[in-house]
Amino acid sequence: MSDEAAVEATTAQGEAFGFRARLGEMMQASPLAPDELMFNLGLYVRSSLLVKFLVLHDVYRRIQHIPGALIEFGTWRGQNLVLLENLRAIHEPFNKQRTIIGFDTFSGYPEEAGMAAKSTETHGGYDTGRTYPDYLGELLQVHEGMNAFGHLRGNHRLIAGDVCETAPKYFADHPETLVAFAFFDMGPYEPTAAALQAILPHMMPGSVLLFDELTWAGAPGEAIAFKEAFRDRPYKIEKCQFYPSKSLVTLT
Ligand SMILES: C[S@@+](CC[C@H](N)C(=O)[O-])C[C@H]1O[C@@H](n2cnc3c(N)ncnc32)[C@H](O)[C@@H]1O
Repeated sequence: MSDEAAVEATTAQGEAFGFRARLGEMMQASPLAPDELMFNLGLYVRSSLLVKFLVLHDVYRRIQHIPGALIEFGTWRGQNLVLLENLRAIHEPFNKQRTIIGFDTFSGYPEEAGMAAKSTETHGGYDTGRTYPDYLGELLQVHEGMNAFGHLRGNHRLIAGDVCETAPKYFADHPETLVAFAFFDMGPYEPTAAALQAILPHMMPGSVLLFDELTWAGAPGEAIAFKEAFRDRPYKIEKCQFYPSKSLVTLT
């Protein structure tokens, strides 16, 4: 890239950050009443967020025909769990067998992960606060309650703690579990490898895995764990159509 082009690119990036900050200000100072805001949230959804919704929609269509739970390893605020519940309601309104499970410490990256200072500072190290899992649990129930067969609730689980311990324990305690979909969004090798080892015996042909950063040199742990786990397993891999840095793996 020429110096001139580099300056132009940096300026363009700076301008985009400025608009992003302005969007935040405009949302905070929204003239919409809270009720109106709930119906018009799209006013503030950026393309970089909308694309995540599209990715999950694509995933849902792929796993709809197979049984099993939908899991997110690295849940943080739980937006994806809520989206999955609502995609379930749209695609399979009467299927109350779709357990949706979120694994997270809910207190951010464990210190030894070495992630706290580096790539997580914009979100306070992803610490959601002690009471957040209760809030998220109720939020999931509220969404469930508004959807078809809303009187049947309780199919969602939030598992707090280090995945290296909670994932093997969860599957030992719930041997009936089948896994239709798992999203890996933690980053480091150890929890990703532990979660992969825990779920693989419970997956079947057609099960889908979504990896957030399989090709990112900044955090090679995901790729290393993936290659180890899939060395002798048949699978198909593709990059997400709308979000090329995310990868989709389907068991064959
Ligand atoms: C990038 S954030 C996840 C973002 C979320 N998937 C989303 O799309 O909104 C990574 C999450 O992984 C969690 N995490 C990291 N290491 C973990 C571990 N060993 N056990 C459980 N959760 C972990 C962090 O607490 C953090 O919430």
